[in-house]
Amino acid sequence: MQPMTELDADSLREYYRKFAQLEATGSSPTYAAWATGVAEDDEIITLLLDLPKPKRQANLLFAAARHLGAGEGDYPTLRTWLLEHWELTRDLMLARSTQTNEAGRCAVLLPALARIEGPISLIEVGASAGLCLYPDRYSYTYTTESGPRALHPEDGPSTVELACEMTNATPPERIPDVAWRAGIDLNPIDIADDDQQEWLRSLVWPEHGLRRDRLSAAAALVSADPPRLVPGDLLETVESVLAEAPAQTQKVVFHSAVLAYVEPAEREGFAALMRSRDDVVWISNEGGRVLPDIGAQLDREPDGRFVLAVSGEAIALTGPHGQSFEGLR
Ligand SMILES: C[S@@+](CC[C@H](N)C(=O)[O-])C[C@H]1O[C@@H](n2cnc3c(N)ncnc32)[C@H](O)[C@@H]1O
Repeated sequence: MQPMTELDADSLREYYRKFAQLEATGSSPTYAAWATGVAEDDEIITLLLDLPKPKRQANLLFAAARHLGAGEGDYPTLRTWLLEHWELTRDLMLARSTQTNEAGRCAVLLPALARIEGPISLIEVGASAGLCLYPDRYSYTYTTESGPRALHPEDGPSTVELACEMTNATPPERIPDVAWRAGIDLNPIDIADDDQQEWLRSLVWPEHGLRRDRLSAAAALVSADPPRLVPGDLLETVESVLAEAPAQTQKVVFHSAVLAYVEPAEREGFAALMRSRDDVVWISNEGGRVLPDIGAQLDREPDGRFVLAVSGEAIALTGPHGQSFEGLR
């Protein structure tokens, strides 16, 4: 039998190899080369093995290195830098976690939100920094077979412009009337804090400049008028936040790229709670297998896309960063 440490080292090498092949290749040549390099590098693997398991992830290592100034060069350059700055990198990896907030997802939430009579009280569970709580402040361009169609907030074009390819659906024609907004997150991010904002930027992969620019623009817009973000678990906290929503508003609870991080029993508990609240419109934008009742409604493969559902009814397949919307009916 192999000693435990050998098994751990082998599975970590294999994880980095797979990360390079399945996640990074085609999306980030830098990360693909870095992960391939780590997989073959006994010295770096040994350093990583000294961290708790959840802290050995490629996204965390590479973001921490870039955040601290490693640059985006080739693997030998990263390796030299890591060996010289391991203490710093290690401390940052222990202190932080991987987290995203993608304002672009508002482009696929908007078709569902625009159908709802306002004024709306918008509650996002798993809100991160709350950038998706501002669908009424962004500008959109939906491109369909008939060409592009732009939609702007009432007071004119926004500094945040979101583009979405739309098929089998009609672009929304109005911006929702959001009267009140609040978010819930286990680990809310204060977007007005420069270091937290910079950490979010470091988590965006090197070649994804458009996403980084979008993040900077949305962060500037949101930090001028930050949302109420309640720290807590979504299932335990959502009812108390719902109770704060002003009367005479339509309550809308939504989540995007969140439930995959929650245990299946809690996901089901949350879905059951949402279904039981006939005063709430529930919008979910999650991976195809995350909520089995919603996934079972699909008549085609999601192919890596999310499923947008309104009150449990699947209505579209959506690009994970909000880049596409394919209507299902
Ligand atoms: C991948 S991020 C998505 C953030 C945002 N919804 C978006 O679309 O950009 C997932 C977020 O869910 C939060 N989260 C995970 N489990 C949670 C839970 N049980 N309760 C509340 N928030 C949770 C994480 O802290 C993280 O901020």
